[in-house]
Amino acid sequence: MSIRTFRKQFCSPTSADTAVAHHRWLTDLGSGVFFPAIVQCTGSTVEFEHIPGPTASTDDMPLVARTLGRLHRAARDRGLRCVDANQPFPLGTGRTLAGFAEPRRGRLLVALSTVRSPLSVQLVDAWLERASVLPTALYKDANPRNVILSRSYGPVLIDFDTLTLAPVGYDLAKLVVTTSMTFGALSQEHILMALHAYTKGLGVEPEVCPLEHLQIWAEFHHLLTSPWLGEHYCFDWTEVRPWTADEVATAAHAPTPIRS
Ligand SMILES: Nc1ncnc2c1ncn2[C@@H]1O[C@H](COP(=O)(O)OP(=O)(O)O)[C@@H](O)[C@H]1O
Ligand SMILES: [Mg+2]
Repeated sequence: MSIRTFRKQFCSPTSADTAVAHHRWLTDLGSGVFFPAIVQCTGSTVEFEHIPGPTASTDDMPLVARTLGRLHRAARDRGLRCVDANQPFPLGTGRTLAGFAEPRRGRLLVALSTVRSPLSVQLVDAWLERASVLPTALYKDANPRNVILSRSYGPVLIDFDTLTLAPVGYDLAKLVVTTSMTFGALSQEHILMALHAYTKGLGVEPEVCPLEHLQIWAEFHHLLTSPWLGEHYCFDWTEVRPWTADEVATAAHAPTPIRS
């Protein structure tokens, strides 16, 4: 019996190979999180197992957050706990995952020249550097379109194009910002529920991933996703942000915590 597939066309065979390598590494973590199987990879085309179900929406956020936490916990158990998020991480196949700061710095600085943000160039630079001393996890582009709610498996993570190291909480902030930019404002209570679910999944104390860090990383995502406002996203983060710009600025000026 042939299984139904989702065929994804990449811009080059190299991009397709990279997505396949990310998929393999994530699957091998043994996190208990579900990913679609890869059925075939030919040149620039990858065929994934088709997962029926809707993509994530606002109400799914705590469940998706817990799933992200479980994935990050497994990745930390498999080596990320001991590494600096700003250094490349070897995947063991001759490939590496990029560090956090290097691929983002240029785009953030360009965005800061056109997008209104409570973060200055100095603060963005300081927090890119601080990633080195914060607990390390992953960025896998946790926007709601990259999660399918399957009846059989629960939340299934899709889209393996981008995978880098990032501080704990950074990908959760992506989920918060992009869910708000897609569906409209979320209450701070709803976000705290998601944060609680994430730290539970991650198996850490809440202090390891405080709300203040989420607030700062959310502004990074605002800067980086602003080009897609009007395309994937209908709501401007500055209009749906559930805390004030001053609160973010205060959080961003707080002293550096230590890696745990
Ligand atoms: N394995 C899959 N099964 C079912 N639908 C999928 C699958 N993979 C992707 N999709 C659907 O296609 C959309 C785009 O796929 P994605 O891999 O996220 O591409 P993009 O790089 O354009 O974001 C997803 O939001 C989802 O709706
Ligand atoms: Mg996607």
